Amino acid sequence: MKTGFLQFAPQFGNVDANNNKALSMIDNADAELLVLPELFNTGYHFISAEEVWDLAEEIPSGKTVKALCTIAQKKNIHIVAGIAEMADDNLYNSAVLVSPAGYLATYRKVHLFNEEKLWFQPGNKGFEVYDIGQCRIGIMICFDWFFPESARVLALQGADIICHPANLVLPYCQDSMLTRCLENKVYAITANRTGCEDRDGKRFNYTGKSQITAPDGSILYRAAPESDEVGIAEIDIAKARNKRANIYNDLFADRRVEYYHDLVNNKLLSNIKI
Ligand code: ACM
Repeated sequence: MKTGFLQFAPQFGNVDANNNKALSMIDNADAELLVLPELFNTGYHFISAEEVWDLAEEIPSGKTVKALCTIAQKKNIHIVAGIAEMADDNLYNSAVLVSPAGYLATYRKVHLFNEEKLWFQPGNKGFEVYDIGQCRIGIMICFDWFFPESARVLALQGADIICHPANLVLPYCQDSMLTRCLENKVYAITANRTGCEDRDGKRFNYTGKSQITAPDGSILYRAAPESDEVGIAEIDIAKARNKRANIYNDLFADRRVEYYHDLVNNKLLSNIKI
């Protein structure tokens, strides 16, 4: 299966220009599944809730999702793309999944980063896996990577590929995703943006280096830190379905969940023996 990502530098607030840029990159890409960056159509660095309300869209009726559905049908591909969502009285940092047959699903970012907490509500739908025919995909957004539980839950739910729209400003994620893939034996597609945003006296530099990483922890494709790039790699889904590390170890079956309960009970400091 041919999978890939778009890497570019969205212009803050210029939804039409960002959509046009992404649509032309998608049009020229040869892949069956493409992942776009977080907040690809709006830019990232909001400085007020009003700005988010002005640029956010309803899903699936907003113009960005409609345009993504049209190109997905034309190209016969699936697309995962990060956009700002308005729903009822709330704003979410979301990602949509669209198919050749139209809109399929929305993921709302669970772990909000930094000032995102001022504008967005934390995701209220949890992590989900979607069967798109050739494979099963899960979605997480940017800072979700910092919580290994995100990738773990998606992998345990059956994801073969973790689609990971991002606007990374810290330098750690790309290498960390190799471990996320290795420990869960999944593929990951991290679609990061490039460029910088200089707003309200604060400058965010985005780190590029979007990548496609494999269940054995290898990098199948890593983009440059600054260029516009469409990265494509051929992947073998069977490798994500086999959780064996050797003849004695199966990474999922060997888990000792009876010793992990504190992870979900939030009792992390309650069992100090001496
Ligand atoms: C991030 O979550 N955009 C760093």
